[in-house]
Amino acid sequence: MRLISIWLGLWVALVWLGECQQDKPNVIVILVDDLGYNDLGVQGSDDVKSPHIDKLARDGVILTDGYAPHSFCGPSRSGLFSGIWPFRIGAAFNAPKDYWDNRVGLPLEYKTIPETMQEAGYKTYCVGKWHLGHSPGHHPKNRGYNGFFGFLKGSWNYLRSQEYDPELDDYDYIYRGFDRVNDIEYITDNFTDAAIGYIAKAKRLEKPFFLYLSYNAPHAPLISLPSDRDPTVSPDRRSYVAMIKSLDRGVERIRGYLEKAGLTENTVIMFSSDNGGHKHGAINEPLRDIKGSYYEGGLRVPWYITWPGTLQSGQTFKKLATHLDIYPTLENLAGVPENRKNPDLVGVDLIPFFRKVGQSAPEASGPTHPFIAFGGPNPEGISRGMIRQGRWKAVIHSTEEPELYDLRSDIGETTNIADNRPVKMQRLLNEWTEWNSKNIRPVYNRTRAPNPLRLQLSVVGDQLVTMTGMPISFEAIGSSIQGEAVTYFWETFIPVRVDEAIFRDVWTDGVTSTSRTASSISITYPSPGDYIVRVNIQTERWLLWEDVQIQVVL
Ligand SMILES: *[C@@H]1O[C@H](CO)[C@@H](O)[C@H](O)[C@H]1NC(C)=O
Ligand SMILES: *[C@@H]1O[C@H](CO)[C@@H](O)[C@H](O)[C@H]1NC(C)=O
Repeated sequence: MRLISIWLGLWVALVWLGECQQDKPNVIVILVDDLGYNDLGVQGSDDVKSPHIDKLARDGVILTDGYAPHSFCGPSRSGLFSGIWPFRIGAAFNAPKDYWDNRVGLPLEYKTIPETMQEAGYKTYCVGKWHLGHSPGHHPKNRGYNGFFGFLKGSWNYLRSQEYDPELDDYDYIYRGFDRVNDIEYITDNFTDAAIGYIAKAKRLEKPFFLYLSYNAPHAPLISLPSDRDPTVSPDRRSYVAMIKSLDRGVERIRGYLEKAGLTENTVIMFSSDNGGHKHGAINEPLRDIKGSYYEGGLRVPWYITWPGTLQSGQTFKKLATHLDIYPTLENLAGVPENRKNPDLVGVDLIPFFRKVGQSAPEASGPTHPFIAFGGPNPEGISRGMIRQGRWKAVIHSTEEPELYDLRSDIGETTNIADNRPVKMQRLLNEWTEWNSKNIRPVYNRTRAPNPLRLQLSVVGDQLVTMTGMPISFEAIGSSIQGEAVTYFWETFIPVRVDEAIFRDVWTDGVTSTSRTASSISITYPSPGDYIVRVNIQTERWLLWEDVQIQVVL
């Protein structure tokens, strides 16, 4: 009986996969980083020119009341990709830098959009900034993506991969899959190239694709190409505006490629920002405040959805929407049957709320959401947040009195009317408190917890110089103060230098051994040069490594 139902299940799954492969649209989610609400032509900017992003917006639906799930990067992306409020899954902070811990990042027990898309027969690619955890289990290739080109941490210097520096952790590099690359020219353009490369690959494979293009611009530091800088823009905005120009060029090139490849009408493109504009020169007007805030400037983001030929162009959508709607929207686009949908999702499919070509009205009427809420407890259990219901917005602080704003007449949240409307205030507060009662304390903190691993690496005989063809031996003594066994993993590679055009990839086959006490390795180098020898020790949750640099002479 059991066997029959397994076979039946498999058969249903195969039929489902085989049946509707062709008519599944491709999906590109372009998420830019810390973009100001005002900082695009179509958003009303005075100094940003973004004709191609503007066109993308006007070719589809402009969402005016779209909210990011969190007011800064890491948790916002955790929400988008799990489809759940970030505070409900304990992902309230950015993953701390220099940190390897498999509990830090988008918690591993939650399913992600690309995992769902893979099950639905899609090829899935992630290009750009990750910021959802640094441990091997969190790597994009282990979280549902067939391909990855980008970096794992939260920001980048735009110009090149890091010089090898034993003080820096591994994630300070650009990766293609699990491998480092070092020939970055300007990272926004390199990301566009990689995105187009993946689209071409999916086309060759004749598979629908899901591409997450996570541009790092215009996040700080404000590093732009001189050729993108416009001398008529004021000097304090010039580099920032130039960074948006590189994004606009990316959108132009990607849409140009789709058109050439005949994919325009079968590709849904979403464009948004992970949270409000930053303090380094972004403009969020008319919204109040910036990235990190509970006021609109931290959370309300530009957002466009374009599906030429299917969605009527030129639509402006004023109902509430959240990036948590992206997951259920994509489930339906990918044709995921009801019984295979992710039961944890809190958003709604937005497509029925938009007017299709040839229709006079959308299929769905009424509100998308009863309210949009944000916030939750800090590590001490004290909560703050906001709730938006129709025109009303309440801001709930941890100690001060809550505030109430009427966004219809006061989009800039300038006048707190809590005292004039005590009943409304109380109702929103009750609604938010009820919603917040299901949120949990963060499962990881803003700062790193102490690593319990200890490690010593030494060169046998203390010789740091050897000759080609002569073995050189290393010894490592590792332990965990919690007493678990540690796994050893050895590798050797050439240090990366800034002026080196290409990172020469000479990773050895790793030698692995499990032991409570020590491990050693003997390496023979065939050619002269400087080499790094690295030993890693690892337990289920922790990783630590030590390096030594040696010289090999003829
Ligand atoms: C980045 O772009 C430059 C310029 O097109 C190119 O030479 C380089 O190979 C690219 N890097 C990677 C890793 O693709
Ligand atoms: C986070 O830090 C707080 C102290 O501020 C501590 O009580 C809590 O246990 C920490 N949480 C985690 C998951 O490490």
